[in-house]
Amino acid sequence: MSEGIRKGLVGVVVDETAISKVDPESNSLLYRGYPVQELAATQPFEAVAHLLWHGELPSADELAELRAEERRHRVLADEVKAVIDLLPTSAHPMDEVRTAVSALGARVLGGVSAVDAGGTREENLARAIRLFAALPAVVAYGQRRRRGLEAIPPRDDLDYAANLLWMTFGEEFDPVVVDAFNRSMILYAEHSFNASTFTARVVTSTLSDLYSAVTAAIGALKGPLHGGANEAVLDIFEEIGDASRVPAWLDEALAAKRKIMGFGHRVYKRGDSRVPTMRKALETLAEHYDRPDVLELYTTLEDEFVSRKGIYPNLDYPSGPAYSLIGFDTLTFTPLFVAARVTGWTAHIMEQAASNALIRPLSAYVGPDERHVEGYVPDETDR
Ligand code: SDX
Repeated sequence: MSEGIRKGLVGVVVDETAISKVDPESNSLLYRGYPVQELAATQPFEAVAHLLWHGELPSADELAELRAEERRHRVLADEVKAVIDLLPTSAHPMDEVRTAVSALGARVLGGVSAVDAGGTREENLARAIRLFAALPAVVAYGQRRRRGLEAIPPRDDLDYAANLLWMTFGEEFDPVVVDAFNRSMILYAEHSFNASTFTARVVTSTLSDLYSAVTAAIGALKGPLHGGANEAVLDIFEEIGDASRVPAWLDEALAAKRKIMGFGHRVYKRGDSRVPTMRKALETLAEHYDRPDVLELYTTLEDEFVSRKGIYPNLDYPSGPAYSLIGFDTLTFTPLFVAARVTGWTAHIMEQAASNALIRPLSAYVGPDERHVEGYVPDETDR
């Protein structure tokens, strides 16, 4: 490989950010300076969204104002629902969510020219809040329509986490479950220059609009090496069945050189800082739903894989079984990641837009030496 190339940008620092700090040495994650564990244990997700966008936790008035604005945009617009309904229910939910965001953007931006679509910080903050508010309805409707059920309208008397559960299941959940779900959304919200966030920053760096950047980020997050892993973790749990089958399953998977979804991380090498918090939430849910078998399988697979390969779980590993216990379909897991990460993505979009620097790396050419067309005669033989 040519000199100086860092494939996959491994270890390359490409820009500064004030939004979050991922530190593999201390195995920590700070959102605007606050340890994510403290935020997950004490804050509603709406307050963390405010922190990511504005750099500070909200005052009581600011939180009330954000909650009021979020409530104003919860309803899934008929036109967006109609676009989703054009897709077959067999479409992957990430394609559904990506399409819905694109349709939302086309409606909000209307005829705004590409030159002006980038928007001001105020316009992008309003767009960020609208997406933050609208995505739960998109995610909930996706799961319901795949089950042949009608959409459930939002409830103004429920905060963000409880309302997303209400729109998906049509029931009010025990506060223990709402709290565990709220914690998962905070843990998923932001993680510096991960592939989907960096994708959003690249799109923004051309002065394109927020909806195009989020649509591109959803495309990146869908990949099983990134957000799609939480869905794949449940597939693995279903493949294994029960804890007693873990050793044999792992023998086979590792012999086939399979990537074990939910394990490993590009930045953390001794474990993902978010996992202990999400694991506690999973333990709470397993107790609440009386499902010790889920924890047994979770722990057995982790212990076996870590002892054999020294590769540790990432956030997707505990969040998959947690979402399954709550009742979300496996295919809904990564859309939930979108609903959470849209706060981090839009914070980075606003930060990138302010920096005004086009992202355009170089490449080392390894193709044919220069040659000329006059030497080319299309011959009859197939190439
Ligand atoms: C997320 O970047 C972020 O912050 C992402 C994220 C976020 O919040 O945005 O944290 C969310 O994307 C978490 C990751 C979810 N993906 C998965 O769980 C998929 C499985 N994980 C692997 O594909 C892998 O660990 C990656 C992609 C996550 C990390 O990839 P790297 O950095 O390219 O892998 P590596 O250099 O750490 O791997 C070193 C070795 C390799 O073996 P060799 O080829 O050198 O023999 O470890 C192996 C890898 O094959 N390895 C695995 C493995 N992870 C690494 N082998 C089997 N199963 C795995 N999960």
